[in-house]
Amino acid sequence: MSGPVIAVDGPSAAGKGTLARALAAALGLPYLDTGLLYRAVARKLHAEGGDPGDADAAARAARRLQPADLAREDLRAATIDRAASQVAALGEVRAALLGFQRDFAARAGAVLDGRDIGTVIFPDATLKLFVTASPEERARRRWRERVARGEVVTLAAVAAELAERDARDAARAAAPLRPAEDALVIDTTQLDAEAVLAAAMAIAAARLNRSQPLTSPA
Ligand code: DC
Repeated sequence: MSGPVIAVDGPSAAGKGTLARALAAALGLPYLDTGLLYRAVARKLHAEGGDPGDADAAARAARRLQPADLAREDLRAATIDRAASQVAALGEVRAALLGFQRDFAARAGAVLDGRDIGTVIFPDATLKLFVTASPEERARRRWRERVARGEVVTLAAVAAELAERDARDAARAAAPLRPAEDALVIDTTQLDAEAVLAAAMAIAAARLNRSQPLTSPA
């Protein structure tokens, strides 16, 4: 491993994407939102009329994934949310996406956010953060995002969808959502993005200074 790998795991709408992106920018590291991989597989299947429960078809779609598939604008559509969580429960799909994630960090290190980065993808990550918040606060954040995008949706509906996906992500046999034993937990319920970044940078400085420099020497 040539650069530091920072794993940022946690449930939906806990603020891990915002934190991971800010950490990557502050530390000069590449950033990968691994949820996009599962979303892109779900979209590919959907576009081909496939069933998100069909493990063979989903694994074939995962093996054909190209970097350009992650750059599409439509991956956060509500129709994709559910199908992404269904394909993410398939061990064959997770296995097919493992290499992509490891290769991403191979050259310069990276910040990756997801559900199993610290437990499965990079068990030896330099730093593991588990970002969480109360279910009510996460539902409120996701609801505000969707309303800001122009969707007509109630807070109760968003809370119910989030609870369903959380349950599936945590209960599945393949790489269930859980903090790695050596992860540091950040509860963002009462914190804004700036305070979360400050907390994570303090942890990162303490942890990374011991092993390697925070930023590349260049
Ligand atoms: O973070 P997100 O909502 O974009 O993720 C989409 C789905 O993929 C969600 O159900 C969780 C799942 N996922 C996963 O199982 N493992 C990851 N590393 C990232 C996301």
